[in-house]
Amino acid sequence: MVSGYSIAMETRKTVTVCVNYRANPDTPSCGARGGVEIAEALEAAIDEWGLPMAVERFNCLGMCERGPNLKFSPGGGFCHGVHLEDLPHLLEKITAFAQD
Ligand code: FES
Repeated sequence: MVSGYSIAMETRKTVTVCVNYRANPDTPSCGARGGVEIAEALEAAIDEWGLPMAVERFNCLGMCERGPNLKFSPGGGFCHGVHLEDLPHLLEKITAFAQD
């Protein structure tokens, strides 16, 4: 039994962006195809818009061939083949997910 403690668990919604970089061009990686730039753009836009979302940078979501990849959590699924040009659409999706 725990007494005298208040344990608060925050379940903040998160968009996880793969930024894994592999220098070998024969081995695909999200970082080599714009993952870092996508993470930076999302961080800036989410901050500017004041959305209740966190951006997490991660090294490999296990779907390297389909990247750049990102994942919405909890339970929001994946986006594959994301590019900076997709940012407006992504922000619509993130806004809807944040308010869900
Ligand atoms: S390098 Fe991004 S999913 Fe593996």
